[in-house]
Parts: sequence; structure tokens; C-alpha cells
Amino acid sequence: MLRLAIPTGRVAKQAEAFLGRAGYCPAEPLAETRKLTVPSRCGRLEYLLVKPVDAPLYVEQGVAECGISGKDTLMELAPDLLEPLDLGFARCRMVVAGKPELERKGDNLLSPVRVASKYPAVAQRHFAKKGAPYTVFKLSGSVEIGAVLGLSHFIVDIVETGTTLRENGLVVHEEIAECSARLVVNRAAYYARLEEVRALLDNLKAAVGS
Ligand code: PRP
Repeated sequence: MLRLAIPTGRVAKQAEAFLGRAGYCPAEPLAETRKLTVPSRCGRLEYLLVKPVDAPLYVEQGVAECGISGKDTLMELAPDLLEPLDLGFARCRMVVAGKPELERKGDNLLSPVRVASKYPAVAQRHFAKKGAPYTVFKLSGSVEIGAVLGLSHFIVDIVETGTTLRENGLVVHEEIAECSARLVVNRAAYYARLEEVRALLDNLKAAVGS
């Protein structure tokens, strides 16, 4: 049995539907159960339900051989994992957003540029490239309010439907990356459990986009 780390929250429901299509239907609804491990009905997988930001660590440390993780989380944490498959769901964009009027001001007129984000490493890398002074504040959620109330000029965050930005009077200034759910695999487990991992990969590949 391979163990697959699944991020709880908004990705869990989509992951569950996807895994069902791939032939790995969970024995209990992943988005509703309070259990932290759930087997697949076929008995070939065990799901480990963890916070999205923790999923890569469980796989990196070999507690789970495989996992599902958002590209946004992978960009932030840069874990040492194989990332063999784009699963195609949980699509969103990593963007720089802020008030519309900031479009007219160059970054160098805002010194230092203040940026708030749940993704401080992504924000650091992005603003470091611009060569102007900047400060990044790490927030844990509701990042938009930072830009609305002046904690920061910009936020770096994911946008899915755009509703949160719109309802708070913010706009996208730059796109950093397209994100979606990815299959991640522990490096050692990939080779040690090659046959099982390959079978899983083949079945998941067949379900992508179906
Ligand atoms: C994410 C993200 C945005 C929102 C974008 O937050 O940080 O706030 O979703 O989605 P939208 O474009 O469809 O409106 P999440 O819902 O995960 O909550 P959080 O702010 O508490 O982290």
C-alpha cells in the first residue's frame, strides 16, 4: 500500500473526485471525515490528510511515498521532491495585486515597496529581481486587507475566481505563475517502489483532464 498525502481544505474535494476517476475512490469522503488516514476502496492506497502547507514535508521525509500539493505551495517551500505530473485541477494564478492607482506609480517611487503575502519566499524572489528596495511581510491569511488598509502597497497571492480581489477593490498588477495541483513523489520511494509508483502514475495520467 502506498501512502498519499492529501491537502485538506479546498483542494480535498477536487482531489477526491479526481482520485475516484483514477480508480482510487476513498473509503470515506476525504472532505468530510475527521479521520487523518483513510484507505482507498481498492486497498492500494492510504490517504494521509494534512494541512496543505505540511503535505510536501510528509512526502520529503518519506512518511508518505507520494502526495498532492498545489504548485503555489511547492513554489514557496521548494521541497526536494519529484514532481512527475500536473494533475490539472485546483487551477489558479500567483499574482501581484494592489489598489488600481498603484499602476501609475513606478515601484521606485514607493521606497521601500511594501509587500504582504502568505508566500514570502515567492514574494522575495519576485521583488528581488526588480532591483528596488522592498520589504516583505508574512501574513497567514486574508492578505487582501493588508493592501486595502495600507499595511502594504502590494500583495502576492493566489487568485482563482478573482472575487476576493474584486470585492475588496484590488486589481492584478502582474502575473507570476500559473498554478495547479501536482503529484509529488519522494525521491527514494520512486526507485524503491518503482512498480507501484509507476502503476499509480499511469492511472493518474489517464484521469487527468477526463
Ligand atoms: C485564497 C487566496 C485569496 C482567495 C482567492 O484564500 O489567498 O484570498 O483564496 O480566491 P478567489 O480569487 O476565488 O476569490 P483562502 O480562501 O484560501 O483563504 P485565506 O485568505 O484564509 O488563506
